[in-house]
Amino acid sequence: MEIAFMLQIWNAGAAIAVILCFILSIAAVKWLLSSYRPIKGLPPGSMGWPLLGETIQFLEPHSATTRGSFMDNHIKRYGNIFKSCLFGHPTIVSADPEFNKFILMNEDKLFQCSYPSNISAILGKWSLLVLVAEEHKRMRSIAVNFLSIPKLRDFFLPDIERHVLLTLGTWKEGQVISAHNESKKFTFNLIAKQIMSFNPGETRTTELMNDYLTFMKGVIAPPLNIPGTAYYRALQSRSKILETVKRVLKERSQQSKGTYNDLLESVTRSGNLSTEQILDVVLNMIFGGYETSTVALTLALKFLADAPAVVEELRVEHEAIRASFTSDRRLTWEDYKKMSFTHCVINETLRLGNVVQFVHRKTLCDVYFKDFLIPKGWKVLPVFSAVHLGTDVYDNPLKFDPWRWQQEKNIYFTPFGGGSRLCAGVDLAKLEMAVFIHHLVLEFEWDVTEPDYPLAFPFVEFEKGLPIQVRRRSS
Ligand code: HEM
Repeated sequence: MEIAFMLQIWNAGAAIAVILCFILSIAAVKWLLSSYRPIKGLPPGSMGWPLLGETIQFLEPHSATTRGSFMDNHIKRYGNIFKSCLFGHPTIVSADPEFNKFILMNEDKLFQCSYPSNISAILGKWSLLVLVAEEHKRMRSIAVNFLSIPKLRDFFLPDIERHVLLTLGTWKEGQVISAHNESKKFTFNLIAKQIMSFNPGETRTTELMNDYLTFMKGVIAPPLNIPGTAYYRALQSRSKILETVKRVLKERSQQSKGTYNDLLESVTRSGNLSTEQILDVVLNMIFGGYETSTVALTLALKFLADAPAVVEELRVEHEAIRASFTSDRRLTWEDYKKMSFTHCVINETLRLGNVVQFVHRKTLCDVYFKDFLIPKGWKVLPVFSAVHLGTDVYDNPLKFDPWRWQQEKNIYFTPFGGGSRLCAGVDLAKLEMAVFIHHLVLEFEWDVTEPDYPLAFPFVEFEKGLPIQVRRRSS
């Protein structure tokens, strides 16, 4: 009986293996036919292994302040635009400043946003990274309205400053802390407040953060929806976050309108989104704003720790702003507008640190650029970091030199992407960094206690969390 049962299982297993092999062989043959079909005018390059292509080499972790050996070697060998096979698709990779700009400015005409299917499956079908054309425009307008300059000035600025002071207020004299963890706490608390009016320290804020962190791990995991995998846990966390949003919406339905001034309030007030759409908007804002701003702040702490002359110049700027206060007041929009050197520091941090290394696009038709043909349906990866760290646009590109931004205004600087998909949180991200830097340089000195550097995974991570020792400034 047992043997018969085992044989049945074995037979079923063998049948599944045969079917899998068959499917894989067909996929490999299809891939070989499409990828090796000689196409006149294609950029030079190498397609690597069947299906896998050069994905592993492309994703090999490297310091975020370098282009990494894959990009360096390929650019040296093939030039700034080359073909490859990445994420299972024939792909054109670009380190060309003009081509990157051309791609961004021709969204929905020649190119279209095209993230790998596991990202779209987990972020939701209403995610801005998934939607295209008119639907993208409609959902984007919600994010853009919520993050508009008047909202930043009247609502976000005081909130950001409160959260900066709250974070810095916990730093003890001489204490060694993880700069990355502190940035994470600050950014998440701020986002939870802006999105659903959750306060720091509340149980529901901590639960939301834990659910989100589990969710986030699934975005970069293989899409295996099997118990025990990161992807499965991420989908469960997605459901838990959905439950939280539903609960908050229910509580609010019993309260008078206008009680809250947050994203949830503004999307419900617009009145025409389903609960699923609202969830995807919420997840999008956390996904777009949390990891990116956290890394950007940590990078600033790292670069500034190694650049005392830059910190000195920042202090001059921020002491002048504080000296103009006639009473013990908080920062205003006018103060923020005076932070010109701080903006140079923010630009330089984003240029050298490359929070978002590249974005995913595909061609909608055959595209001709600089004598090359990029065939319809091919994936295209504009690699921003390769431009930011190359010599085509910048002198001495590996040097942290904020002063370069006093002269340099270039259209090839794309830390926030560009065109109709320009980051919706660009002004919020800069405001958060500027207010943090204001209080940081005025109130603290800090040193990195163990060598640590930003690693592109491709998400940027600090292996040791960037340990820093903080001291209050005597003045
Ligand atoms: C330093 C911090 C940040 C960086 C470097 C950054 C970078 C980017 C980039 C490169 C894109 C374009 C993606 C693409 O074209 O495929 C993007 C899109 C987006 N970002 Fe940011 N971001 C930052 C902060 C934020 C913040 C704080 C928020 C909001 C809370 C935000 C929300 C979004 C949204 C909603 C999109 C999608 C826009 C669209 O598709 O229309 N980001 N971001």
